[in-house]
Amino acid sequence: MLLSPTSNSMALSTASNHSNFLNHRDGDSPLIKPHGSETLNPLFVQDAQLQQQLLAEAETLPSLLLNSAAAANAVMLGAGYFNPLSGYMNLADALSVAETLHTVDGLFWPVPVLNLVEDISAIEGASRIALRDPNTEGYPVMAIMDVAAIEAVSDAQIETMAQEIFGTLDAEHPGVGTFTNLGRNIVSGDIKVLSLSYFQADFPDTFRTAAEIRDEIAQRGWQKVVAFQTRNPMHRAHEELCRMAMERLDADGVVVHMLLGKLKKGDIPASVRDDCIRKMVELYFPQNSVMVTGYGFDMLYAGPREAVLHAVFRQNMGCTHLIVGRDHAGVGDFYGAFDAQTIFAERVPAGSLEIEIFNADHTAYSTKLGRVVMMNEADDHSKEDFILLSGTKVRQMLGDGIAPPPEFARPEVAKILMDYYQLENA
Ligand code: ADX
Repeated sequence: MLLSPTSNSMALSTASNHSNFLNHRDGDSPLIKPHGSETLNPLFVQDAQLQQQLLAEAETLPSLLLNSAAAANAVMLGAGYFNPLSGYMNLADALSVAETLHTVDGLFWPVPVLNLVEDISAIEGASRIALRDPNTEGYPVMAIMDVAAIEAVSDAQIETMAQEIFGTLDAEHPGVGTFTNLGRNIVSGDIKVLSLSYFQADFPDTFRTAAEIRDEIAQRGWQKVVAFQTRNPMHRAHEELCRMAMERLDADGVVVHMLLGKLKKGDIPASVRDDCIRKMVELYFPQNSVMVTGYGFDMLYAGPREAVLHAVFRQNMGCTHLIVGRDHAGVGDFYGAFDAQTIFAERVPAGSLEIEIFNADHTAYSTKLGRVVMMNEADDHSKEDFILLSGTKVRQMLGDGIAPPPEFARPEVAKILMDYYQLENA
């Protein structure tokens, strides 16, 4: 084992008993395998001539304007993150995935990948259709789909899925609110992706496909690679989690992988987070130890289930470990602080995934020790010995032009955030 855990919540849990990538460390060993196949199979059409042909064909086909969630799925399928899926799931697979975390054929998969549609009048009876991007002006074609089925889905089935995925049916939950309003038809079938939406244009330095990240990891010669999921600017706790994981695992590097798609109201825009993270990495990490990257997906706020999806697509991009800390992918009080860790033991059968989870306890600055620590490793501390600030409090301070203490946020990061909030509030 790579580290001897001192407590449960710091333990390195494995999603698999067969984490044989650990044997790959020496020589020109291959990267960790993608999920469900030997090689990565992104659905984006690379060949320029074929692209042109398919784009021309798309103009002759019945068109479906996707909702943002379905478009985000197309981007993830196109970029290889959702390997080995070949398109959108049908109703049977979606229900099976929601309830058992496996498709009908037995593939391990944590969250249904759906094209839910309200109005199917434009595509009824069609076997091949063009899918259009709702997030780009003019609604350009983003994929061609071979329609396998168009199935009506009942309110009860949607609720069953929502309950399983999000653990609640509370309409106040942003993921539930979105999911239950996407439509009552499931349009399933294989797709060929022709555009990765606006992400490459808007985030040329940061948006990367799973295939690109795999390639870069290989080029760097990294083998043990930690992924860090984030939808926030990185504060000291986030920064330190990366450092701790890197040191304790003796990893070759960290891939910070930020969400670039849609978030709920009040969350910080991707461009601002990107600036914060780049500044933090530039100033506080050794050169070439961190890759700053992002992916084009809308946040689900599905807590534990999303954490497992995160593990799947981090394995697909070539990472051997994923950091899962406190309230990973959570929102409000909908999940227990460490539910996103326990799900790996409870719902992910051994051998389902090769990526391993680096579990982290609540992490905060200790005024006693003068550094950021995992709270469960500071047993002689009381709550008062830590600098703990709620997200609401931090937003309030930044909005008022007050920098959070340097023990909480790096001053250079706080400056970028204050500038943003000041513009917002102007
Ligand atoms: S998330 O929705 O993307 O999970 P966020 O960007 O805040 O939100 O968190 C990124 C990762 O850091 C998650 O694994 C989360 O659990 C972890 N994390 C954030 N803050 C802390 C903290 N103070 N202590 C422990 N883990 C944390």
